[in-house]
Amino acid sequence: ITNEQNDIAEVLFSQEMIKKRVDELAAQLTVDYEQKDPLMVCVLKGASFFYADLCRSMKCRLFMDFIAVSSYGTSARSTGVVKIIKDLDKNITDKHVIIVEDIIDSGLTLKYLTELFHARKPASIKTICLVDKINKHQCEIKPDYCGFTMGDHFVVGYGLDYSDFYRNLPYIGILKPETYE
Ligand code: PRP
Ligand code: MN
Ligand code: MG
Repeated sequence: ITNEQNDIAEVLFSQEMIKKRVDELAAQLTVDYEQKDPLMVCVLKGASFFYADLCRSMKCRLFMDFIAVSSYGTSARSTGVVKIIKDLDKNITDKHVIIVEDIIDSGLTLKYLTELFHARKPASIKTICLVDKINKHQCEIKPDYCGFTMGDHFVVGYGLDYSDFYRNLPYIGILKPETYE
């Protein structure tokens, strides 16, 4: 068995840290969106675990929908081109939309999605990300809700991939450079 844990140099956000923070964010959203029946949009595939844990921990009524986009493909760096692989199933007009992302790197994916959804005339639109790489932004972007900020490391786990691997690690860790260099 190839053990993906061997490719991790350092655990940055442990399972316990993630759970605690996700529950805090969910409690905040529950208060802020009480009576609003927010439409939680999962940005596949990276946000999948964060999305599931966040929605499960929220106590208010909510809708779920999924969009799949890709900017990285199989490379380790952003191409800057966002491709929609699967759009939302339903119309978001007059809905209170919350875009759920795992990570902001260049910010191009979230920026693109925010503008795309804005044009569909929702009642409101907010963004939440678990991890924000604050000094890597290539555009003006600030998530409305954020779990953690971090510096410039290549991280995987809890949905985050390198070449589609490592997503199912239960924590977020820094990948050893020799695995992708
Ligand atoms: C990753 C990540 C974010 C985006 C962040 O997705 O999950 O969606 O890149 O990068 P950015 O801020 O530079 O746009 P990716 O395109 O790798 O697809 P995936 O979620 O299926 O892994
Ligand atoms: Mn993604
Ligand atoms: Mg990816």
